[in-house]
Amino acid sequence: MNINEIIKTKRDQKELTTEQIDFFVREYSLGNIPDYQASSLLMAIYLNGMSEKEIYDLTVAMTASGEIVDLSQIEGIKVDKHSTGGIGDKVTMVVMPLVASCGVPVAKMSGRGLGYTQGTIDKLDSIPNFRTDIEMDEFIRNVKRIGIALMGQSEKVALADKKLYALRDVTATVESIPLIASSIMSKKLAAGCDKILLEVTCGSGAFMEDEVRARVLARTMVDIGRKARKETIAVLTNMNQPLGKYAGNALEVKEAIETLKGNGEPDVVRVCLVLGAYMLKLAGVDDNIPNNIKLLQSKIDNGEGLEKFKELISRQWGDSRVIDDPEMLPKAKYRIPLNSLEAGYIAGFDAKVIGQAVVNLGGGRLKKEDSIDYAVGIETVKKIGDEIKEGEPILYIHANTETQGLLQIETLRSSIKISKEPVEKAKEILDIIE
Ligand code: URA
Repeated sequence: MNINEIIKTKRDQKELTTEQIDFFVREYSLGNIPDYQASSLLMAIYLNGMSEKEIYDLTVAMTASGEIVDLSQIEGIKVDKHSTGGIGDKVTMVVMPLVASCGVPVAKMSGRGLGYTQGTIDKLDSIPNFRTDIEMDEFIRNVKRIGIALMGQSEKVALADKKLYALRDVTATVESIPLIASSIMSKKLAAGCDKILLEVTCGSGAFMEDEVRARVLARTMVDIGRKARKETIAVLTNMNQPLGKYAGNALEVKEAIETLKGNGEPDVVRVCLVLGAYMLKLAGVDDNIPNNIKLLQSKIDNGEGLEKFKELISRQWGDSRVIDDPEMLPKAKYRIPLNSLEAGYIAGFDAKVIGQAVVNLGGGRLKKEDSIDYAVGIETVKKIGDEIKEGEPILYIHANTETQGLLQIETLRSSIKISKEPVEKAKEILDIIE
């Protein structure tokens, strides 16, 4: 077998065999296939697509290229949750304690942010002393002891994906559904959980702007999960505006705490309850989604979800006093309003611009090694469909230098659409794909 033949097969729109895919993933990981040949194959895949069988084979080969996490010591059905990312996405910090407070074990590995989306690990790092860099044995011990643990994703999981993703990033081959689906699912299959709940975001603040493509991605990933005997459900959500009020690390932790206290923004609460309800369904708690939503709501009302988050923070060395006093979180020096120049209704946001503004303020990374200012971010006070008067604030910029804050105003302003006519409120949940 040789790589030249493999490239030719895909170039000529023929199906690759399992052996050809295994050969490519193994030999590229070992450094025996140069980047120029791997790029050529990636471009052929990008242009010609892959069959269901090829996508599954690629996922399995990438899963096998790294460590497979063993969570078998933890009793019960472990359900993983993954989001394709968005702006102001604090869902994991709310849903995981809520689900754990229902008695379902939560063993969650999360990523750091890169580019315009921030990762859960960075957000949690804004809690004083909280440690996400714990070892696997401590992670498993914590789930057994308190029913929940969160850690940074192991660098050793799906090693081939790491190398291939870096190559895709510089060869214009990221936006291929077979490559995205196999990349995400190879890491999920290696993460050791029994079932998988995916949130596939779509809209201006998401990786997939187009709803049709987001649906295809969701369906492709659900099918991979089924074939791998890890039942998978995808919830398609709208990311045409930031979720909730805040985007930015410490600000989102504060909002997650407020949501668990029962003071959440309606959109955050809805997304968290629906995602949590499907996680409970996967965990075998109840197939009835309205019942699961009621159960999760009761865990907000009786404070058990909040208590679980507090326990998680203490157990992972963090200062859990932030739960009672969120003002202990890093706080920016300036809160600069962006006022509307006209009266009307908010018709839309370019949510990516809001994510980018958080990065520009220092709250995200352009390169993996960049450090983060946890305090900064954007507070959105008006959402799609809200009425606005001239001179009223649409959002506030939380900045640590006034110049940095003021510099964001014009780009942010141009990312907001205002209509003279009333506009319908945005729907958060677009579909469920099982
Ligand atoms: N996230 C991933 O992990 N992989 C992709 O290809 C795209 C988004």
